[in-house]
Amino acid sequence: MEMEKLVSLCKRRGFLFQSSEIYGGLNGFWDYGPLGVELKRNIKGAWWRDMVTGHDDLSISPGAPETYDMTGLDCTIIMHPNVWKASGHYDLFHDMMVDCRQTNKRYRFDQVRGRWAEAKGQKVFVTTVAENEQQEIERQAQKLFKIRAKNADEISWDGAITTLDQIDDLSQVLGPDAGELGTLTEPREFNLMFKTIVGAMGTEEDAAFLRPETAQGIFVNFKNVVDSTRVKIPFGIAQVGKSFRNEITPRNFTFRSREFEQMEIEFFCHPDSSQDWYKYWRDRRMKWYTDLGLSGDRLILREHDADELSHYSTGTADIEYAFPFLPAGEYGELEGIAHRGDFDLRSHMEGKLDEKSNPLEVQLGADGKPKWRGSGKDLTYRNPETNERFTPHVIEPSAGADRATLAFLCEAYTEDEQPDEKGKPQTRTVMRFHPRIAPIKAAVFPLVKKDGMPEIAKDIYRELKQHCNVFYDEKGAIGRRYRRQDEAGTPFCITVDGETLQDSTVTIRDRDSLDQWRVKADDCVAELMKRLS
Ligand code: GAP
Repeated sequence: MEMEKLVSLCKRRGFLFQSSEIYGGLNGFWDYGPLGVELKRNIKGAWWRDMVTGHDDLSISPGAPETYDMTGLDCTIIMHPNVWKASGHYDLFHDMMVDCRQTNKRYRFDQVRGRWAEAKGQKVFVTTVAENEQQEIERQAQKLFKIRAKNADEISWDGAITTLDQIDDLSQVLGPDAGELGTLTEPREFNLMFKTIVGAMGTEEDAAFLRPETAQGIFVNFKNVVDSTRVKIPFGIAQVGKSFRNEITPRNFTFRSREFEQMEIEFFCHPDSSQDWYKYWRDRRMKWYTDLGLSGDRLILREHDADELSHYSTGTADIEYAFPFLPAGEYGELEGIAHRGDFDLRSHMEGKLDEKSNPLEVQLGADGKPKWRGSGKDLTYRNPETNERFTPHVIEPSAGADRATLAFLCEAYTEDEQPDEKGKPQTRTVMRFHPRIAPIKAAVFPLVKKDGMPEIAKDIYRELKQHCNVFYDEKGAIGRRYRRQDEAGTPFCITVDGETLQDSTVTIRDRDSLDQWRVKADDCVAELMKRLS
């Protein structure tokens, strides 16, 4: 599937729009249109239902070591600034960036890629951040060496395309949009948190941050949840909500946005069983995506190598999807499942930890007060049956709602050949969403706008409306109405026609198989509910 086709369908049919489009858009921000909002709400709803409210805490789930509780939270986006100091985000949540002194553009260091080119006695590392990197590098090199495209073979190439961080001397580098050499600065750290000011004074003392992840709201409320409910370890706390990261180069449609939504679980367990829980959550989360329709051959579970793991983690796996905008064989992260040990709760108790997980010495500010530290609160847990006290270990399945939505959109997009009303083959675009996440579950049509058909169709529509999102359409040729619903991903269309007037039956059409069958109008709701569940 070509990504351009999906992007165009998303705009044309109202799945996704660029934010503030009439003002030229804002890079890294996206709005969900009338169909998109339903799709994303259904995905978040399915996640919440499957992970939280639908979870059976009386039985052992398949693959789980024992029974467990699940509960939820909805925390604020702006939190006390010390949360981010204790979590490490204040000091460590950054990407390396380079600036171009000529164009004033900023790039993520690891995303600038280039190749050595030689011509007219000069050897230059020509770079780009464009997706069609080979063509762009060739174009840039021809421009720099002042060589016409027809004489392109006057340029000789050395080695394969590689990342800028492999190059020692930046003075020989041509920046992605530059016209001369050596305009890129040395790489510097760039903190990804959005800063804001709380209150009317507007001083630096009042600086706060928009959360870059929902997870920290869960950690700082761990004690509140234990004290206000009867949950016992092992249990999980779930949260769905907005997160913000000032990504240097947002790209690939919604994949890397600056404002996005996460669906995160922090699962608290005893250190002795944490490895079993890690495996359970890794497999459970993978299955969730396949159950909702992501195909197994585009989805992988990738265990991190030891050198990729954070110092506190004994296991991390990513669920990755072969997004069509990535080169063949490459996958993009949908969700990470991390064994975080006791790092987070300890950090919020004791303050920021150093590389070896030891509490660092508290640094004093000019006023003699500690510059940062943890809350000093006891976030350990006491087992009420054995009296054992310990700091729980955490398994964190952390998913992106926008990335999941994008993956389901990519997976759903299909084209097939179908005859039109005159029997001529036409390309049909179908969004094959799983019925659970489809924005519209059924469309109801009267074949023609007369003979009492609209009245019967409207009655069916109103009855269905009480159960799910249904669409009524009486305009245009029936074939065209079907095609519009195929593009919206509506699994079923119900048509009231001449036969309905004779025997009170209606046609139900299946979006994927195109099978059509008749049912009694009175049984239509029950039939649809059975097929949608
Ligand atoms: N609490 C752990 C955490 O936030 P992460 O890997 O940084 O881990 C988790 O983020 C998920 O959030 C990612 O797997 C991805 O689905 C989503 N995500 C992260 N950054 C994103 C961005 N800039 N745009 C869209 N989704 C993003």
